[in-house]
Amino acid sequence: MMVRGQGCFLYDETGKEYLDGAAGIATNALGHNHPAMIEALQDQAQRLWHCSNMYRNPALEAFADALIAVSPPARKVFFCSSGSEAVETAIKTIRRYHHVRGDTGRTEILVVDGGFHGRTTGALAACSNPASKEGYAPLMQGFRTIPFHDLEALERAISAHTAAIILEPIQGEGGVRVHDAHYLQQLRHLCSTHGALLCLDEVQCGYGRTGSMYAFLQSNITPDLWTVAKGIGGGFPLAAMLATEEVASCMTQGTHGGTYGGNPLACAVGLSVLNIVQSEGFLAQVQRVGDYFHHHLQQLQQRHPHIIAEVRGRGLMLGLSLHPAIDKYAFTDALRHKGLLLAPAVSHVVRIVPPLIFAPQHVDQACSILEDVCHPWI
Ligand SMILES: Cc1ncc(COP(=O)(O)O)c(C=O)c1O
Repeated sequence: MMVRGQGCFLYDETGKEYLDGAAGIATNALGHNHPAMIEALQDQAQRLWHCSNMYRNPALEAFADALIAVSPPARKVFFCSSGSEAVETAIKTIRRYHHVRGDTGRTEILVVDGGFHGRTTGALAACSNPASKEGYAPLMQGFRTIPFHDLEALERAISAHTAAIILEPIQGEGGVRVHDAHYLQQLRHLCSTHGALLCLDEVQCGYGRTGSMYAFLQSNITPDLWTVAKGIGGGFPLAAMLATEEVASCMTQGTHGGTYGGNPLACAVGLSVLNIVQSEGFLAQVQRVGDYFHHHLQQLQQRHPHIIAEVRGRGLMLGLSLHPAIDKYAFTDALRHKGLLLAPAVSHVVRIVPPLIFAPQHVDQACSILEDVCHPWI
């Protein structure tokens, strides 16, 4: 029972302190109780909480302008409250884009094995994990799953019927699996030559988590549209879909919406997070601390290869792939007892997705708890 947070730490009802290596599943980008976020929220709370999208509001416009300024080639943004909603918006935009152009045969959306895009019915249809879909059939049609990181399979699957490809540059729930730059560049090329849209799901890997504003920037590609959530609100329910002018032009007034989209409280908090993520040196520090963490985890792996099979990830989106004999829940429970919070993913992977303000001393503390837990295991 967590009752309080401060910086990179959470406190339970007994007062016990935990180093937060999970950040509410890659969400509390600035940790807990950040003064700039509190100030932004309190200030906005005294002005205007909500007025719907029937009217303009300054918090929305300030945040939209600031986000677009750091998100080329996007020229338009749609705000909503969760990653799933952002993915639903992307699916609708993809469908409508081809519809408006009269390209009605383009109905198939390719998705990647192991991908996770949310739990609303459209987003769920784009996921590949059968367990999360069980009992909800029939889901939205028109999705086809291609194998992870397999360019030949992608070349075989893409056609004049492909409306888009949706994928995470780095899979989160799927076990911190990285699509490398070559794969993403080929993917971009194939989409462009076949007239399909490239939609990246940056809900978990984006917004500074890997040391650049968006993960795709490290592969020198740009998508046609993309989704963000989690870190964008730093813990306040906020998400967005960004798109180029051309793609967004199909979404005219009345074609999509939501009561809370562009909510002033959320946008005020979002702007306070963005200002810090964009401040000088912030992303470089995420990269440095991520590299330092990765290095120490690799050393840990070498000392305990019978427990940790592999270290994965980039920046502060890291994963430990455990040996199949190790139960990931028992492992994370043991860590929690010793004061470190991590987040299980699929199969044998445990995610390390701390606040982006993690410092080297937090890494040292996390590695020392990991060492303690690995030591007597088995
Ligand atoms: C890549 C990705 N897309 C979409 C979602 C769905 O986001 P939300 O849980 O905010 O609906 C998640 C959630 O974990 C995610 O990791």
